[in-house]
Amino acid sequence: MKESRISWSAMFALVLALGLSACGGDANGNSAAEEAVADAKEAVADAGEAVSDAMDDAKEAVEDAEEAVENAVDAIKQEMPEGVTMEMIAQGKTVYAGAGICSSCHGPAGKGIPSLGADLTDDEWLHSDGSYEGIVKTVMEGVTAQASSSGVPMPAKAGTNISDDDVKAVSAYIWTLGK
Ligand code: HEC
Repeated sequence: MKESRISWSAMFALVLALGLSACGGDANGNSAAEEAVADAKEAVADAGEAVSDAMDDAKEAVEDAEEAVENAVDAIKQEMPEGVTMEMIAQGKTVYAGAGICSSCHGPAGKGIPSLGADLTDDEWLHSDGSYEGIVKTVMEGVTAQASSSGVPMPAKAGTNISDDDVKAVSAYIWTLGK
């Protein structure tokens, strides 16, 4: 009996110790978990704020870029001669290298070919004042051998049968080369 009484009190002490440590453990565990949750919430809030800041910045950058493009297009449009459109300039580039065969005498980039076609990219114009209308007139009529500085004539419309609209378009393109 004596033996069993000792073991009962030992058991009681053990249960008490376990109970205390469990309570203590629980209390510590809870507060640590709560802290971790609070930290995580804070981290999520910080991340959310960073994302919305980044989105604001990106939106602002896109708006700035859009404004810059609009300004650039406006600047070109304002400078563009009466009757010239961006579409004409694009079409003229095609005529220059294609049906108009301009590139064969003036070079693919309009830089001219010695003793043949003049440089069309500099601001020195031999046969007109370099205005859009002046360029149209030169392309329509060509350049006579007497008027040509190289003695080589340029046939009217470069000797091709491109339309008057094509002449205007290619002249609009050449006008941009001189800018
Ligand atoms: C057969 C060769 C030849 C072809 C093809 C040709 N040109 Fe010319 N072009 C000339 C020559 C030569 C001149 C006169 C250059 C000079 O005076 O030194 C000239 C002059 C010009 C000028 C006047 C440049 C200035 O300084 O006033 C323009 C503009 C021009 N060409 C545009 C064109 C266009 C546009 C085409 C295509 C539709 C074209 N040319 C096709 C030979 C050519």
